Amino acid sequence: MESENAVVTGSQSGMGLAIRKELETQGWRVIGVDLPGKGAEVEADLSTDEGRATAAAGIVAAAKGRLDAVAANAGVDVPRPELVVGVNYFGVVDLLRRLRPTLATAGGARVAITVSNSILVTPGIPIGPVDALLSGDVPRALRLLEATPALAYQVSKLAVARWIRRSAPTAEWAGSGISMNGVCPGAVMTPLLERDLQDPKKGPFIERLPRPLGEFATPQAVAELFEFLLSRRARFLVGQLICIDGGNEAAWRGADWPHPWGIDGASFMKLVGLS
Ligand code: NAI
Repeated sequence: MESENAVVTGSQSGMGLAIRKELETQGWRVIGVDLPGKGAEVEADLSTDEGRATAAAGIVAAAKGRLDAVAANAGVDVPRPELVVGVNYFGVVDLLRRLRPTLATAGGARVAITVSNSILVTPGIPIGPVDALLSGDVPRALRLLEATPALAYQVSKLAVARWIRRSAPTAEWAGSGISMNGVCPGAVMTPLLERDLQDPKKGPFIERLPRPLGEFATPQAVAELFEFLLSRRARFLVGQLICIDGGNEAAWRGADWPHPWGIDGASFMKLVGLS
């Protein structure tokens, strides 16, 4: 079979690099996207509108119009909310919107997005800035984040997660044959985690996270999940958030999920169209 094309953003370090290598080992043709000077096939700054336009044009040209899969993985965890939101939210959502028409012509394309299990194990993530991002109101999101700047990362990732849940089953995505899902890694030993472990506030917290398997995940473990999600074998997975965290989230929140649907019978019948 002719090899398929996959885009990997943040392809030159950590999980992105592991995803790139795993895909290449499995015979994929990879188009890496990363910051200028990092050696990726497409060089662009995904935190800016202009950078995302450059990235999308470069990807479509490199893919020669046929794009089978995207791993939207680039992300940052730095004390600059506007940059965090720019890369982690718009660097995913806006880039994917630009690539969607090309993905739709592939016939059964797949998208996997790196979210984070921190959206499930961090208490008190404010919903106001999440909703502001989802409605595209960046000034409002940044204004609201002034109260909790340390939670900008979780806010950006929760907004991406909700965008995946809302968008994946729609006509634009699943209806165009595109299967889109999110991956929520726990602590994974990458340069990003090494930096966070050195942080006087984040470091001790990360060290204390429950680790039922007794160790931090490797980038390779996450890359193998991505390879599956980007393959045709994952076609019927749509709009799911898959935690790959060695049991961290289940250890703390085992009783919270699955959460039964609170909809009443009459509303449900109306939704189904039988009343
Ligand atoms: P990393 O720092 O090793 O790699 C991130 C890559 O993204 C780098 O190659 C970097 O140059 C690129 N990048 C950063 N800003 C960019 C921009 N503006 N435009 C284009 N490329 C840019 O990080 P890591 O750990 O591999 O993280 C990958 C993803 O996994 C991120 O989305 C991160 O939030 C997420 N994540 C990481 C966890 C961890 O424990 N390492 C846990 C949960 C999620």
